[in-house]
Amino acid sequence: MAPVSVVVVGAGERGTGYARWARDHPDRASVVAVAEPREVRRARFAAEHGISAGNAVPDWRQLASRARFAEAVLICTQDRMHAEPAEAFAALGYHILLEKPMAPDEAACRRIVTAVEKTGVMLAVGHVMRYTPYSRAVKAIVESGQLGDIMSVQHLEPVGFWHQAHSYVRGNWRRSGLAASMLLAKSCHDLDWLAWILGRAPLRVSSFGALTHFTAANAPAGAADRCVACPVEASCPYSAPRLYRGLLERGEHGWPLSVVVEDFSAGSLDEALRDGPYGRCVYACDNDVVDNQIVILDFADGATASLTMTAFAPPSLIRRPALRAASFASSS
Ligand SMILES: NC(=O)c1ccc[n+]([C@@H]2O[C@H](COP(=O)([O-])OP(=O)(O)OC[C@H]3O[C@@H](n4cnc5c(N)ncnc54)[C@H](O)[C@@H]3O)[C@@H](O)[C@H]2O)c1
Repeated sequence: MAPVSVVVVGAGERGTGYARWARDHPDRASVVAVAEPREVRRARFAAEHGISAGNAVPDWRQLASRARFAEAVLICTQDRMHAEPAEAFAALGYHILLEKPMAPDEAACRRIVTAVEKTGVMLAVGHVMRYTPYSRAVKAIVESGQLGDIMSVQHLEPVGFWHQAHSYVRGNWRRSGLAASMLLAKSCHDLDWLAWILGRAPLRVSSFGALTHFTAANAPAGAADRCVACPVEASCPYSAPRLYRGLLERGEHGWPLSVVVEDFSAGSLDEALRDGPYGRCVYACDNDVVDNQIVILDFADGATASLTMTAFAPPSLIRRPALRAASFASSS
């Protein structure tokens, strides 16, 4: 079978990652075009995938203004920039991999579904947790019936203290008005996972959560607004220099360091820590998303589930060794 030809919209973290999978599996997919406004990223992406200048453009609208020239599109823009390209590329007949969450409000989600149903294209939402080996194993065990009827599930989303600080206090998902609520931005994976594992959707859902810790009131005495100028940085578990410099020293150039700097030099990182969003004190940001939330779900057959999302998880839950090392260092 010929590889699927794909267009990538947004060469940020996700778009770059998916495209690299295609590069490593040339029999499965081939990237033929990219839309990305950040010139450095666009040029790097085009060079990596051998994309011609005419097919590497700053804005997805430039690709959507042409007749369809690939089979599928990967929509990897930020949360509030999903619905418009999804509608446009569906109308052109592209099959779509759309990053989660589909859109931050129900009306936009419904518009996307209407658009794909109209042209009959496939729509897949990036609920990637379903495809991990452990999820497949859990699903197979549940479906085998060897556990009997599942009546109660307790599910934990241990975001982790440094990941919360990176993405949900200093980073792109820190405000629900900029991106989405925590439940949509992070825990949509968990809610999708629970419904998928159990093989049914809940009838009733209720939730409580709060921003408890990452507020000005919890700043240590004497803390500065930036870590690089902070007299108590050395004892702070959220020290940005310790985390990001640790990753740079270990040669860990992937996420999350790739969000902080474009080139992996000590000078660029110093500049980012001095002037950029990722050098801010976690108690002096403009964040408003929750750091602790619980969701309870009630299913038609009497089964129930609870989901806890918490920032305050230990570093031992972090999978990548270098991140674990950086996190252990930052908690000592
Ligand atoms: N499936 C998952 O597990 C998972 C994990 C993290 C993030 N996400 C989601 O993926 C999406 C992207 O996240 P990310 O971390 O890659 O963000 P990102 O900010 O790194 O990438 C988004 C890219 O879109 C580009 N962009 C902006 N306007 C554009 C336009 N008009 N045309 C084309 N590109 C444009 C930006 O310049 C940026 O490079 C978000 O919705 C996020 O919530 C999914």
